[in-house]
Amino acid sequence: MPYRPLSAVVLAAGEGTRMRSSLPKVLHPLCGRPMVLHVLDTLVALPLARVVVVVGHEAEAVTKAIQAGLDTGIPVEFVEQRVQRGTGDATSVALTAFSDAVDDDDVIVCSADIPLLRPETLAALVTEHRHADAAASLLTAVSDPTGYGRIVRDARGNVARIVEQTDATAEELEIREWNPSIYCFGRAFLAPALRRVSPENAQGEYYLTDVIEVLRGAGHTVVAMPADDPTEVVGVNDRAQLAEAETVLRDRINTAWMKAGVTMVDPSRTYVDATVELAPDVRLLPGVILEGRTVVGRGAVIGPDSRVVDSTVGEGAEVASSVLRDATVGPDVHVGPFAHLRPGTVLARDARVGSFVETKNADVGAGAKLPHLSYVGDAEVGPGANVGAGTITANYDGRDKHRTSIGAGARTGSNSVLVAPVELGPGAYTGAGAVVTRDVPADALAVGVPARIVEGWVKARDAEPTDHVGEASDTNEAGESGD
Ligand code: UD1
Ligand code: CA
Repeated sequence: MPYRPLSAVVLAAGEGTRMRSSLPKVLHPLCGRPMVLHVLDTLVALPLARVVVVVGHEAEAVTKAIQAGLDTGIPVEFVEQRVQRGTGDATSVALTAFSDAVDDDDVIVCSADIPLLRPETLAALVTEHRHADAAASLLTAVSDPTGYGRIVRDARGNVARIVEQTDATAEELEIREWNPSIYCFGRAFLAPALRRVSPENAQGEYYLTDVIEVLRGAGHTVVAMPADDPTEVVGVNDRAQLAEAETVLRDRINTAWMKAGVTMVDPSRTYVDATVELAPDVRLLPGVILEGRTVVGRGAVIGPDSRVVDSTVGEGAEVASSVLRDATVGPDVHVGPFAHLRPGTVLARDARVGSFVETKNADVGAGAKLPHLSYVGDAEVGPGANVGAGTITANYDGRDKHRTSIGAGARTGSNSVLVAPVELGPGAYTGAGAVVTRDVPADALAVGVPARIVEGWVKARDAEPTDHVGEASDTNEAGESGD
């Protein structure tokens, strides 16, 4: 089989109007990763010399997203198609990035809207192309062809040309074999064929699909290879197709993790981004959403109904019905139910964060407990400290944020308010309802806002005349509500 260097061209200049979105179509995420990056992931799994991406609509945003999201040794270059004059024109623009001196290489050309394509399928196309020593090879699919270009075969069953749905005759519309827009070309054949393509068609565009008829007409070999699984090559043009493709991708991701030793009680209700890393024996309960750069350690249990974004969950930790973002949860920590860990939260080994607790920029030491109803922000909580129910770090004075430090083994009474900047020394206590505005030394007790005792208050009230019932009273010291 003739060996030739292999490169790839990705057509990503179109707007994707059918998405009805201000975000370019190719940047819509599936399982947390932009569509075009799924296509590039597939391409760079092959031994490519280079990848050229054609950008146009929102060129800068598309270029930046690819540069930020692709980590590969293969050089990726960008060329701009200023006016979107069709897939043929886009391919011509891409070829300007290649040298004229040598052109005995093969070039894969595909659209950026085929996120389900797998490397094995593409590799099979390239192998077939080289076996046949073809000028062009393309994948085809046989299923509902609505919206796609149809593959027209000649009397001998060879591909003759591709006709777009908008240009097809009634008879051609009956053809069920369609064009997924995934090709391999001998570059030496592609450039001259593109020069012979004209925009005389229903859309007034230069169609890449027309090079097939040009090459066949010139007597060259063109291979049309049906894909084993048509769903793998479907294009995403609207939001319904986006959701369908994401379901397939999610299923692949979940199956791969289960094979790697992760338990998913209900995979159909488990959402794991393509960028997440899970250790063996992780257990995911229904309703779990793991996003971004989240990493989960061995034996951790997450769920039900939890969203974990860009966070680390340590070995043996448990996270129930909670929301985490940019948080680090240490080994054997318990979080939730109903906790909200905001950015900068770091929980050391064995810490506990319970119901209706919100943390932000908080460094919580080993074995420390924040069991109920607290806000702890811009704070350090020492190892073994106990933050009593309803404790609030008042970190904001309306202008600036201030820090609170709770020493090792310190204990705050229910409903304590720690007015930052403030420090509780190691082993210090605060009483219930304390409003702490000054530092508390180690082992001291801070009791604040003590309730005044008004002796005989009830009798004194009952002795008062009642003719002002219903009027606003400024003597309601009991401050009850209701009735
Ligand atoms: C194209 C094929 C059609 C095939 C279908 C598969 C042509 C003429 N038609 O149609 O046979 O069945 O894909 O999904 O090729 N693009 C550019 N510049 C342009 C126009 C498009 O870069 O000027 C890019 C788009 O960003 C997209 C890709 O090319 O990634 C395909 O364009 P799209 O408009 O989706 O083509 P289809 O109408 O789907
Ligand atoms: Ca398309």
